[in-house]
Amino acid sequence: MAKKSKLAAEGGNPVRSGPIPIMHPGAGYIGKEEIDAVTEVLKAKSMYRFYGPHFLNITGQFEKELTRYFGKKNALAVSSGTAALHTALVGLGVGQGDEVIIPTYAWVSCPDAVVAARGTPVLANVDDSLTLDPSDVESKITSRTKAIMAVHIRGTPCNLDALSKIADDYGIALLEDVAQAFGGSYHGRKLGTYGKVASLSFQLNKMISAGEGGAIITDDRQIYERCVMFHDVGTPYRSWEDKSLKFEAEPFPGVNYRMNEVSAAILREQMKKVDWIIKDIKRNKARVKKGISDIDGITFRRLNDPAGEAGISLVFFTKTPEQAIKFKKDLRAENIWTTSGSYPAVVYDPMTNDGHVFMHWSQVFKGIDRVKKRYSQSIDLMSRAVHLDISPLLTEKDIDDIVEAVHKVAAAVL
Ligand SMILES: Cc1ncc(COP(=O)(O)O)c(C=O)c1O
Repeated sequence: MAKKSKLAAEGGNPVRSGPIPIMHPGAGYIGKEEIDAVTEVLKAKSMYRFYGPHFLNITGQFEKELTRYFGKKNALAVSSGTAALHTALVGLGVGQGDEVIIPTYAWVSCPDAVVAARGTPVLANVDDSLTLDPSDVESKITSRTKAIMAVHIRGTPCNLDALSKIADDYGIALLEDVAQAFGGSYHGRKLGTYGKVASLSFQLNKMISAGEGGAIITDDRQIYERCVMFHDVGTPYRSWEDKSLKFEAEPFPGVNYRMNEVSAAILREQMKKVDWIIKDIKRNKARVKKGISDIDGITFRRLNDPAGEAGISLVFFTKTPEQAIKFKKDLRAENIWTTSGSYPAVVYDPMTNDGHVFMHWSQVFKGIDRVKKRYSQSIDLMSRAVHLDISPLLTEKDIDDIVEAVHKVAAAVL
């Protein structure tokens, strides 16, 4: 443990003079390749995914690459991760009166998408992995439960063995939300390959990014056809143009969640870099974790599969919520913060509005405050969870500074 030195928050010298690199993994690796790919689409004047004056079918190729990456039969690119969740739920047949179990720690899109599909989101606690607690999931199952949404939050796999078993035992669907864990795995198999359907996001904070974008992957032909129809105004138009699609699912009203060729062009190039990005991010996380693992009084978040982590964050628990809040404030004063202003964070800080936590989803769950006792397990864990973002672009110096600052603050706070 480092010897106690005066905290920057109390007038001492900060560990470093400016912020650390922000965690925008894919975006940080954008280069000439993405710029050239976008230029090609623009020169072809064919930005629409299904046709154009010099149609390049970049989105179709991106989808094929996704199927190869995940080893799945079907991939559908859409306009965002939220669109992917909504489409996947509709693809599964979720509708009026159907319940979907979601974790208390996710992203607000998760309950929103269930409501958009006209279903009812039902909250289940997270455990000390900060992912769905399988025993609480089981206790929430009713005759109306249609699906479990397993959110691999902050790069870390859910307990997919237990959740798959529950889904099988009760005959309900498992939907994996892989938005925050692209490239992660569980027991050697890629995240996104366990569920009946999985959703991805390519928003700016994600492993590969086009600013916005999303995708669905599934082996199930019926789900895929329903997703294709729903995301493209609910009709089987594409099957008239592309005979290989041969839709058998009944048409029904839909929306426009189509991806465009410019986004797909960026994402195809990002896919070529994904292994590199993940390698960098995991290396950085391992170094930070090793550097602070000697600190008494903090416990790392439990990992359902340490080898399968995508690595975008490092989370540890303090003994009390007060310690966690002080940790966050003091680390920031040491200049361990990113320009987004969001990190480091305490996962649930009642004073900070953060759409990852159910207590801030009052637009979906009216009067959540009155029933929060049911989720005291989640609140206890999340309010003691200090969250560090890990950028793949951290330098050795950044990592040394983070390690030094965490030691310095720990010596004062714990
Ligand atoms: C866990 C999770 N699910 C879904 C989404 C929604 O993705 P998007 O922002 O692309 O709509 C996000 C996004 O940020 C997310 O973190």
